[in-house]
Amino acid sequence: MSGALHAAIAELATYNDDPTAGGITREVFTPTYERALEYVSGLMRSAGLEVRRDAFGNLYGRRSGTDPSLPCVRTGSHVDTTLNAGRYDGVVGVLGAIEAVAGIADARRSIEVVAFAGEEPRFGTGCIGSRAVVGDLSRADLERLVDRDGVSLATALEGAGLDPDAIAEAMWDPSSVHAFLELHIEQGIVLESSGDQVGVVTAIAAPHDLRVTLTGAATHAGATPMALRRDALAGAAETMLELERLAVGSPSGTTVGTVGVLRLRPGAINVVPGEVELDVDVRDSDAGARQAVVEGLLAAVGVLATRRGLTATVDEIVRDEPAGCAPFVVDAVREACDALGVSSRRMISGAYHDALILARRVPVGMLFVPSAGGVSHHPDEHTAPEDIDRGVAVLRGALARLAG
Ligand code: HGY
Ligand code: MN
Ligand code: MN
Repeated sequence: MSGALHAAIAELATYNDDPTAGGITREVFTPTYERALEYVSGLMRSAGLEVRRDAFGNLYGRRSGTDPSLPCVRTGSHVDTTLNAGRYDGVVGVLGAIEAVAGIADARRSIEVVAFAGEEPRFGTGCIGSRAVVGDLSRADLERLVDRDGVSLATALEGAGLDPDAIAEAMWDPSSVHAFLELHIEQGIVLESSGDQVGVVTAIAAPHDLRVTLTGAATHAGATPMALRRDALAGAAETMLELERLAVGSPSGTTVGTVGVLRLRPGAINVVPGEVELDVDVRDSDAGARQAVVEGLLAAVGVLATRRGLTATVDEIVRDEPAGCAPFVVDAVREACDALGVSSRRMISGAYHDALILARRVPVGMLFVPSAGGVSHHPDEHTAPEDIDRGVAVLRGALARLAG
């Protein structure tokens, strides 16, 4: 594979709002993201793709097929990042797809590379660009979804020159799409542990995210006896440990539970925390097992709140259903691996991806390349260049099969 792909990955990593932290922060609809998207558009044009941007800001690069009447094949991922992240999450699936498509000549079906806007949850919920194209993002959602600074998604869209009232124009016509295939880093340790070179994804786990608010009494840290406290943070700590216990004990063996965001008030060393918000993320590819953990947690919160003299409220942030990958897309990936002599294994994606949302409307598939040490969403995220090249070669082979 040309070194150009690896140079492009390195160049894209320079579009970074927080270089001092050691990782990359490039959140969707920020000026840095918009400049990065201009760079990616240039790569698409240099690869001979026709470039356009839809009403939600998703970027497309199109290679027309010999029979434009046929439903197209789409591939891609995202180039926005979470906070202080790595340089490969999403990027491999966009820049690698541009490289893969450049090597496909005379396919019957048109092939489009897509960089989805907002796969990472700057506004609290991920995959907003793919939600927009499947029609699962309302105009009201654009006001409801706000970032950590209180900026609404609607305001951010306007700041990027997009019209919040026009997002419905971005919706895909499912009959015009034959399949969507996403190349992504694994973000886990399975491939590195097994020694398999590529992961053939058969199902994608989904999040059920909740905001739990515990309210007690903000009292003097010195003058309030322990027996008289209503400490919201102590209740939050018990909640987090209960989430861990439920997830570890889940019969599916694949349920995961995380509290990645904690807000407490007032936040002074000499005041007992009066109010705490926990953003809870529970995931599984087994919806029943996930539901059992969520219900178990809510029951536990009720009991501990009563015992601790707290009030508890729960708001739903997002609830997505797990998705299966389409067998014909899975087969195309597997056949491409076999044709190239690439070792592969079927596996589930613990992370969510745009493919999870797109599966509501079109057949999807995914393929993974190894993440060194299973590290991701971290400056040390790394995938070896030869693993990326191999993933691009398999993607090219699978796309060629799907595009005829
Ligand atoms: O959180 C996720 O699963 C994705 O990497 N944004
Ligand atoms: Mn991510
Ligand atoms: Mn990703």
